[in-house]
Amino acid sequence: MPIEMGVNFMYQHLTDKNLALDLVRVTEAAALAAAHYYGKGDKEAADKAAVDAMRIAFQGIHVQGTVVIGEGEKDHAPMLYNGEEVGYGDGPEVDVAVDPVEGTNAVANGRMNALSVVGMAKKGGLFNPGRSFYCSKIAVGKEAAGVIDINAPVKVNLQAIAKALGKPVGELNVFVLDKPRHKKLITDIRLAGARVNLHNDGDVAGALMACDPRSHIDVLIGTGGTPEAVITACALKGNGGQILCKFDPQSDEERQHVIEDGFELDRVLSVDDLVTTDQCFFAASGITDGEVLAGVRYDGEFALTSSLSTRGRTGTMRYVQAYHNRKKLAKMSTIEY
Ligand code: FBP
Repeated sequence: MPIEMGVNFMYQHLTDKNLALDLVRVTEAAALAAAHYYGKGDKEAADKAAVDAMRIAFQGIHVQGTVVIGEGEKDHAPMLYNGEEVGYGDGPEVDVAVDPVEGTNAVANGRMNALSVVGMAKKGGLFNPGRSFYCSKIAVGKEAAGVIDINAPVKVNLQAIAKALGKPVGELNVFVLDKPRHKKLITDIRLAGARVNLHNDGDVAGALMACDPRSHIDVLIGTGGTPEAVITACALKGNGGQILCKFDPQSDEERQHVIEDGFELDRVLSVDDLVTTDQCFFAASGITDGEVLAGVRYDGEFALTSSLSTRGRTGTMRYVQAYHNRKKLAKMSTIEY
Protein backbone atom coordinates (compact mmCIF):
# COMPACT_ATOMS: atom_id res chain seq x y z
CA MET A 1 0.00 0.00 0.00
CA PRO A 2 1.47 3.43 -0.92
CA ILE A 3 2.48 5.44 2.17
CA GLU A 4 -0.17 8.09 1.51
CA MET A 5 -2.94 5.51 1.33
CA GLY A 6 -1.63 3.86 4.45
CA VAL A 7 -1.69 7.17 6.32
CA ASN A 8 -5.24 7.85 5.12
CA PHE A 9 -6.30 4.40 6.19
CA MET A 10 -4.70 4.87 9.62
CA TYR A 11 -6.32 8.27 10.03
CA GLN A 12 -9.72 7.01 9.01
CA HIS A 13 -9.26 4.01 11.25
CA LEU A 14 -8.43 6.17 14.25
CA THR A 15 -11.25 8.68 13.75
CA ASP A 16 -13.65 5.91 12.85
CA LYS A 17 -13.07 3.71 15.87
CA ASN A 18 -15.96 1.61 17.08
CA LEU A 19 -16.81 3.69 20.11
CA ALA A 20 -19.78 1.44 20.87
CA LEU A 21 -17.45 -0.95 22.65
CA ASP A 22 -16.14 1.83 24.85
CA LEU A 23 -19.69 2.94 25.52
CA VAL A 24 -20.58 -0.44 26.92
CA ARG A 25 -18.23 0.19 29.80
CA VAL A 26 -20.13 3.39 30.54
CA THR A 27 -23.55 1.73 30.63
CA GLU A 28 -22.15 -1.22 32.59
CA ALA A 29 -20.86 1.14 35.28
CA ALA A 30 -24.19 2.96 35.50
CA ALA A 31 -26.20 -0.28 35.57
CA LEU A 32 -24.00 -1.72 38.32
CA ALA A 33 -24.34 1.42 40.42
CA ALA A 34 -28.12 1.64 39.97
CA ALA A 35 -28.70 -2.06 40.63
CA HIS A 36 -27.83 -1.59 44.32
CA TYR A 37 -31.16 0.23 44.60
CA TYR A 38 -33.21 -2.54 42.97
CA GLY A 39 -36.52 -2.80 44.76
CA LYS A 40 -35.52 -0.30 47.46
CA GLY A 41 -38.21 2.24 46.58
CA ASP A 42 -35.78 5.11 46.05
CA LYS A 43 -35.67 6.08 42.39
CA GLU A 44 -33.73 9.29 43.01
CA ALA A 45 -30.91 7.38 44.74
CA ALA A 46 -30.78 4.86 41.89
CA ASP A 47 -30.61 7.64 39.33
CA LYS A 48 -27.96 9.59 41.24
CA ALA A 49 -25.73 6.53 41.63
CA ALA A 50 -26.03 5.79 37.90
CA VAL A 51 -25.36 9.38 36.89
CA ASP A 52 -22.24 9.58 39.07
CA ALA A 53 -20.93 6.26 37.75
CA MET A 54 -21.66 7.11 34.14
CA ARG A 55 -19.87 10.40 34.37
CA ILE A 56 -16.77 8.81 35.87
CA ALA A 57 -16.77 6.01 33.30
CA PHE A 58 -17.03 8.52 30.45
CA GLN A 59 -13.66 9.94 31.50
CA GLY A 60 -12.06 6.78 30.14
CA ILE A 61 -13.36 7.32 26.60
CA HIS A 62 -11.21 9.19 24.14
CA VAL A 63 -13.79 11.61 22.82
CA GLN A 64 -14.57 15.30 23.12
CA GLY A 65 -18.19 14.79 24.03
CA THR A 66 -21.01 17.21 24.70
CA VAL A 67 -24.18 16.03 26.41
CA VAL A 68 -27.07 17.16 24.20
CA ILE A 69 -29.72 15.01 25.84
CA GLY A 70 -29.02 14.64 29.51
CA GLU A 71 -30.48 14.95 32.93
CA GLY A 72 -31.88 18.43 32.24
CA GLU A 73 -30.50 21.93 32.55
CA LYS A 74 -27.34 22.75 34.51
CA ASP A 75 -29.17 24.46 37.39
CA HIS A 76 -31.31 21.42 38.09
CA ALA A 77 -28.87 18.64 37.22
CA PRO A 78 -25.49 18.63 38.93
CA MET A 79 -24.09 16.15 36.40
CA LEU A 80 -24.68 15.01 32.85
CA TYR A 81 -26.63 18.20 32.24
CA ASN A 82 -27.27 19.45 28.72
CA GLY A 83 -24.12 21.17 27.50
CA GLU A 84 -21.78 19.36 29.90
CA GLU A 85 -18.55 18.12 28.39
CA VAL A 86 -17.81 14.44 28.83
CA GLY A 87 -15.03 12.12 27.77
CA TYR A 88 -11.26 12.21 28.15
CA GLY A 89 -11.10 15.37 26.05
CA ASP A 90 -9.20 14.11 23.03
CA GLY A 91 -10.36 12.22 19.96
CA PRO A 92 -13.45 12.88 17.83
CA GLU A 93 -16.03 15.53 18.69
CA VAL A 94 -19.29 13.81 19.48
CA ASP A 95 -22.75 14.59 20.81
CA VAL A 96 -24.05 12.36 23.53
CA ALA A 97 -27.55 11.40 24.66
CA VAL A 98 -27.69 9.71 28.05
CA ASP A 99 -30.32 8.03 30.15
CA PRO A 100 -28.38 6.55 33.07
CA VAL A 101 -31.55 4.86 34.31
CA GLU A 102 -34.23 4.38 31.67
CA GLY A 103 -37.02 3.18 33.94
CA THR A 104 -36.28 4.70 37.34
CA ASN A 105 -39.58 3.45 38.78
CA ALA A 106 -38.85 -0.04 37.48
CA VAL A 107 -35.58 -0.11 39.43
CA ALA A 108 -37.14 1.31 42.59
CA ASN A 109 -40.05 -1.15 42.45
CA GLY A 110 -38.16 -4.22 41.26
CA ARG A 111 -39.97 -4.34 37.92
CA MET A 112 -38.69 -5.37 34.51
CA ASN A 113 -37.06 -3.54 31.59
CA ALA A 114 -34.88 -0.94 33.31
CA LEU A 115 -31.78 -0.17 31.28
CA SER A 116 -28.84 2.16 31.35
CA VAL A 117 -28.53 3.62 27.84
CA VAL A 118 -26.30 5.97 25.87
CA GLY A 119 -26.49 7.14 22.26
CA MET A 120 -23.59 8.96 20.65
CA ALA A 121 -23.01 10.47 17.22
CA LYS A 122 -20.61 12.67 15.31
CA LYS A 123 -21.09 16.28 16.45
CA GLY A 124 -24.38 17.69 15.16
CA GLY A 125 -25.76 14.23 14.35
CA LEU A 126 -28.48 13.98 17.01
CA PHE A 127 -31.91 15.60 16.81
CA ASN A 128 -32.41 18.28 19.44
CA PRO A 129 -35.90 17.76 20.90
CA GLY A 130 -35.87 21.20 22.53
CA ARG A 131 -38.56 21.35 25.17
CA SER A 132 -40.59 18.47 23.77
CA PHE A 133 -41.05 15.83 26.47
CA TYR A 134 -43.48 13.49 24.73
CA CYS A 135 -43.99 12.11 21.27
CA SER A 136 -46.14 9.34 19.85
CA LYS A 137 -44.11 6.46 18.50
CA ILE A 138 -44.31 3.35 16.43
CA ALA A 139 -41.21 1.16 16.30
CA VAL A 140 -40.53 -2.11 14.50
CA GLY A 141 -37.62 -4.29 13.46
CA LYS A 142 -36.05 -4.37 10.02
CA GLU A 143 -38.59 -6.78 8.46
CA ALA A 144 -41.42 -4.27 8.91
CA ALA A 145 -39.35 -1.07 8.77
CA GLY A 146 -40.73 -0.04 5.38
CA VAL A 147 -44.42 -0.63 6.00
CA ILE A 148 -45.32 1.51 9.02
CA ASP A 149 -47.08 4.87 8.77
CA ILE A 150 -47.64 6.84 11.97
CA ASN A 151 -50.47 8.79 10.31
CA ALA A 152 -52.40 5.64 9.41
CA PRO A 153 -54.97 4.02 11.73
CA VAL A 154 -53.59 1.44 14.17
CA LYS A 155 -55.47 -1.35 12.39
CA VAL A 156 -53.82 -0.51 9.05
CA ASN A 157 -50.36 -0.52 10.65
CA LEU A 158 -50.99 -3.82 12.40
CA GLN A 159 -52.19 -5.46 9.19
CA ALA A 160 -49.12 -4.21 7.31
CA ILE A 161 -46.75 -5.36 10.07
CA ALA A 162 -48.41 -8.77 10.28
CA LYS A 163 -48.03 -9.19 6.51
CA ALA A 164 -44.37 -8.16 6.64
CA LEU A 165 -43.71 -10.61 9.47
CA GLY A 166 -45.67 -13.38 7.79
CA LYS A 167 -48.07 -13.98 10.69
CA PRO A 168 -51.73 -13.29 11.37
CA VAL A 169 -52.67 -10.03 13.12
CA GLY A 170 -54.06 -12.13 15.94
CA GLU A 171 -50.53 -13.29 16.77
CA LEU A 172 -48.98 -9.83 16.91
CA ASN A 173 -47.73 -8.70 20.31
CA VAL A 174 -47.81 -4.95 20.81
CA PHE A 175 -45.73 -3.30 23.55
CA VAL A 176 -47.70 -0.42 25.08
CA LEU A 177 -46.91 1.67 28.15
CA ASP A 178 -49.69 1.21 30.69
CA LYS A 179 -50.79 4.85 30.92
CA PRO A 180 -54.26 6.44 31.01
CA ARG A 181 -53.43 8.30 27.78
CA HIS A 182 -53.33 4.95 25.97
CA LYS A 183 -56.90 3.86 26.79
CA LYS A 184 -58.17 4.36 23.21
CA LEU A 185 -54.97 2.95 21.68
CA ILE A 186 -55.35 -0.25 23.72
CA THR A 187 -59.00 -0.61 22.64
CA ASP A 188 -58.03 -0.03 19.00
CA ILE A 189 -55.23 -2.62 19.10
CA ARG A 190 -57.59 -5.22 20.58
CA LEU A 191 -60.36 -4.34 18.10
CA ALA A 192 -57.82 -4.94 15.31
CA GLY A 193 -57.35 -8.41 16.80
CA ALA A 194 -53.77 -8.07 18.12
CA ARG A 195 -52.45 -8.70 21.62
CA VAL A 196 -51.54 -5.86 23.99
CA ASN A 197 -48.51 -6.28 26.27
CA LEU A 198 -48.73 -3.63 28.97
CA HIS A 199 -45.59 -2.36 30.70
CA ASN A 200 -45.29 0.31 33.34
CA ASP A 201 -42.04 1.80 32.03
CA GLY A 202 -39.30 1.47 29.52
CA ASP A 203 -40.19 2.20 25.93
CA VAL A 204 -36.52 2.08 24.86
CA ALA A 205 -36.57 -1.56 25.98
CA GLY A 206 -39.88 -1.95 24.13
CA ALA A 207 -38.35 -0.74 20.87
CA LEU A 208 -35.32 -2.99 21.33
CA MET A 209 -37.68 -5.94 21.85
CA ALA A 210 -39.60 -5.08 18.68
CA CYS A 211 -36.31 -5.30 16.76
CA ASP A 212 -35.08 -8.51 18.35
CA PRO A 213 -36.33 -11.75 16.79
CA ARG A 214 -35.75 -13.52 20.12
CA SER A 215 -38.37 -11.35 21.79
CA HIS A 216 -42.09 -12.06 21.52
CA ILE A 217 -42.78 -8.33 20.96
CA ASP A 218 -43.44 -7.34 17.34
CA VAL A 219 -44.07 -3.61 17.60
CA LEU A 220 -44.03 -0.74 20.10
CA ILE A 221 -46.85 1.77 19.84
CA GLY A 222 -47.72 4.74 22.03
CA THR A 223 -46.58 7.98 23.53
CA GLY A 224 -43.36 8.19 25.51
CA GLY A 225 -40.38 10.44 26.03
CA THR A 226 -38.98 12.39 23.08
CA PRO A 227 -35.37 12.18 24.38
CA GLU A 228 -35.87 8.41 24.64
CA ALA A 229 -36.89 8.39 20.96
CA VAL A 230 -33.55 9.92 19.97
CA ILE A 231 -31.64 7.35 22.00
CA THR A 232 -33.76 4.57 20.50
CA ALA A 233 -32.96 5.84 17.01
CA CYS A 234 -29.22 5.49 17.75
CA ALA A 235 -29.84 1.78 18.36
CA LEU A 236 -32.13 1.29 15.37
CA LYS A 237 -29.76 3.06 12.97
CA GLY A 238 -27.44 0.13 13.54
CA ASN A 239 -29.95 -2.71 13.46
CA GLY A 240 -32.12 -1.67 10.51
CA GLY A 241 -35.27 -1.08 12.56
CA GLN A 242 -37.49 1.95 12.25
CA ILE A 243 -39.10 4.36 14.71
CA LEU A 244 -41.55 6.99 13.51
CA CYS A 245 -42.53 9.75 15.91
CA LYS A 246 -44.78 12.80 16.10
CA PHE A 247 -44.75 15.44 18.81
CA ASP A 248 -47.50 14.68 21.31
CA PRO A 249 -47.39 17.37 23.99
CA GLN A 250 -49.17 16.34 27.17
CA SER A 251 -49.92 19.85 28.44
CA ASP A 252 -50.72 23.27 26.99
CA GLU A 253 -47.38 24.50 28.28
CA GLU A 254 -45.45 21.76 26.48
CA ARG A 255 -47.43 22.40 23.28
CA GLN A 256 -46.55 26.09 23.49
CA HIS A 257 -42.88 25.29 24.06
CA VAL A 258 -42.75 22.92 21.10
CA ILE A 259 -44.24 25.60 18.85
CA GLU A 260 -41.91 28.27 20.26
CA ASP A 261 -38.97 25.96 19.61
CA GLY A 262 -39.89 26.12 15.92
CA PHE A 263 -41.32 22.63 15.41
CA GLU A 264 -44.37 21.80 13.32
CA LEU A 265 -46.63 19.65 15.44
CA ASP A 266 -47.54 17.29 12.62
CA ARG A 267 -43.96 16.66 11.50
CA VAL A 268 -43.08 13.00 11.28
CA LEU A 269 -39.60 12.08 12.49
CA SER A 270 -37.93 8.85 11.41
CA VAL A 271 -34.66 7.21 12.46
CA ASP A 272 -32.83 9.27 9.84
CA ASP A 273 -34.28 12.55 11.21
CA LEU A 274 -33.48 11.64 14.80
CA VAL A 275 -29.92 10.58 13.96
CA THR A 276 -28.64 12.23 10.80
CA THR A 277 -25.29 10.43 10.53
CA ASP A 278 -24.39 6.78 10.38
CA GLN A 279 -21.36 7.60 12.52
CA CYS A 280 -23.39 6.83 15.60
CA PHE A 281 -23.20 4.36 18.43
CA PHE A 282 -25.50 2.92 21.04
CA ALA A 283 -24.96 0.96 24.21
CA ALA A 284 -27.36 -0.45 26.77
CA SER A 285 -26.88 -2.53 29.90
CA GLY A 286 -29.68 -4.26 31.76
CA ILE A 287 -30.36 -3.05 35.29
CA THR A 288 -33.44 -5.19 35.85
CA ASP A 289 -34.38 -8.21 33.75
CA GLY A 290 -35.82 -7.80 30.30
CA GLU A 291 -36.34 -9.91 27.20
CA VAL A 292 -33.35 -8.43 25.39
CA LEU A 293 -30.91 -7.95 28.26
CA ALA A 294 -30.72 -9.57 31.68
CA GLY A 295 -30.44 -7.36 34.72
CA VAL A 296 -27.42 -7.15 37.01
CA ARG A 297 -26.75 -10.38 38.91
CA TYR A 298 -24.48 -11.01 41.85
CA ASP A 299 -22.40 -14.16 42.18
CA GLY A 300 -20.12 -14.07 45.17
CA GLU A 301 -17.50 -11.46 44.62
CA PHE A 302 -18.62 -11.01 41.00
CA ALA A 303 -21.31 -8.88 39.48
CA LEU A 304 -22.59 -9.93 36.07
CA THR A 305 -23.85 -7.53 33.42
CA SER A 306 -25.54 -8.03 30.05
CA SER A 307 -25.14 -5.33 27.45
CA LEU A 308 -25.75 -4.52 23.82
CA SER A 309 -23.65 -2.29 21.61
CA THR A 310 -24.50 -1.22 18.08
CA ARG A 311 -22.67 0.82 15.50
CA GLY A 312 -24.59 2.71 12.83
CA ARG A 313 -21.99 2.60 10.11
CA THR A 314 -21.46 -1.14 10.02
CA GLY A 315 -24.68 -2.33 11.60
CA THR A 316 -22.67 -4.56 13.93
CA MET A 317 -24.51 -5.53 17.10
CA ARG A 318 -22.69 -7.11 19.98
CA TYR A 319 -24.13 -8.74 23.05
CA VAL A 320 -21.59 -8.46 25.81
CA GLN A 321 -21.66 -10.37 29.07
CA ALA A 322 -19.18 -9.28 31.68
CA TYR A 323 -18.07 -10.57 35.05
CA HIS A 324 -16.91 -7.72 37.23
CA ASN A 325 -14.66 -8.57 40.14
CA ARG A 326 -16.17 -6.30 42.75
CA LYS A 327 -13.36 -6.79 45.29
CA LYS A 328 -10.64 -5.75 42.87
CA LEU A 329 -12.64 -2.92 41.38
CA ALA A 330 -13.47 -1.53 44.83
CA LYS A 331 -9.74 -0.98 45.37
CA MET A 332 -9.25 1.01 42.20
CA SER A 333 -12.50 2.84 41.52
CA THR A 334 -14.90 5.17 43.27
CA ILE A 335 -17.81 3.58 41.40
CA GLU A 336 -19.85 1.26 43.59
CA TYR A 337 -19.73 -2.08 41.81
P1 FBP B 1 -37.48 7.38 33.16
O1 FBP B 1 -36.16 7.20 32.51
O2 FBP B 1 -37.75 8.79 33.50
O3 FBP B 1 -37.65 6.47 34.28
O4 FBP B 1 -38.55 7.03 32.01
C1 FBP B 1 -39.18 5.81 31.88
C2 FBP B 1 -40.24 5.92 30.80
O5 FBP B 1 -41.15 4.85 30.97
C3 FBP B 1 -39.72 5.94 29.39
O6 FBP B 1 -39.37 4.69 28.90
C4 FBP B 1 -40.85 6.56 28.63
O7 FBP B 1 -40.43 7.09 27.40
C5 FBP B 1 -41.33 7.60 29.60
O8 FBP B 1 -40.95 7.15 30.90
C6 FBP B 1 -42.81 7.81 29.60
O9 FBP B 1 -43.09 8.86 30.45
P2 FBP B 1 -44.26 8.86 31.53
O10 FBP B 1 -43.94 7.80 32.56
O11 FBP B 1 -44.24 10.22 32.10
O12 FBP B 1 -45.51 8.54 30.82
